[in-house]
Amino acid sequence: MSASSEVLASLTEDMALEHGAIMQYVIHGVYLRDVGITDQVRKIAREEMWHFEWLAEALRDRGGEGVLDRADMFLSTSMGDSLQADIATEDLALLHYAHTLEVVGHSDPELSRLIERIVVDERYHRLTFERLAQDAQEAGEEAYAAHPITGPEDLAVIGPTIQTEYASVLQYLWNKYGCGDCEQAETYFELAVDEMRHLSQVASYVPGLVGPQPPDVPSDRVRVVHSTDEAQEAARLLEGLAASLYSEKSSAAKGRALSEDLVRAAAHHDYHRYQLGLTR
Ligand SMILES: [Fe+2]
Ligand SMILES: [Fe+2]
Ligand SMILES: [Fe+2]
Repeated sequence: MSASSEVLASLTEDMALEHGAIMQYVIHGVYLRDVGITDQVRKIAREEMWHFEWLAEALRDRGGEGVLDRADMFLSTSMGDSLQADIATEDLALLHYAHTLEVVGHSDPELSRLIERIVVDERYHRLTFERLAQDAQEAGEEAYAAHPITGPEDLAVIGPTIQTEYASVLQYLWNKYGCGDCEQAETYFELAVDEMRHLSQVASYVPGLVGPQPPDVPSDRVRVVHSTDEAQEAARLLEGLAASLYSEKSSAAKGRALSEDLVRAAAHHDYHRYQLGLTR
């Protein structure tokens, strides 16, 4: 299957928007901690992960190549502003998907159906954010004031852990689509979801210490893979990085809850190595 350069360019832009949305919602999700709406925002972030991976696959199948480009993110300490930004992000996605549908036209019904299916999600996300924004407005900003749950000294542990987990999410999404229809594909996706949990967990210690900041796109650590062997090698390197990071950082954390979370994440990474056949 092949596609015009215009279609590939539009899909690439859709992917960058999904990437930006994933990280924006992870960050907004953690800034909403202590309230019942956090889970809904995180759930939406996970759905954007599916979209990101589907688009990568669609691009691959049509002779294109996924990219690590990330659209601009809108970050704020105000809960009301954050949710308004999330609504605007869904609007942008919807607008861009409409453009993609237009350039695809009748040339690729399978792709059109996929985009239409994603659009259903984006409309639903928009409705959810609208509802949450209303709840947030009724509760008032004070209800969302972030109280630090660890000391500022732990930022030295949190920062590098966020970067490694962010790279892990992207690498495993990449592996799933890059390894072709390999046997490990589902495992890679499962690991990506696991890494997303670790990322949200460690990021949840940031509110109250510093304002929301966009983490750098870890393009130096994510390997674009095109085969089962390359995917496995990328996973091996990444898990090696994670193992040394966790062995250093889990004992360095001062906050007790953070330390417990890091010990658990380290054990998950041990299990990842087992799942990947790197250890017995
Ligand atoms: Fe999406
Ligand atoms: Fe969305
Ligand atoms: Fe992880």
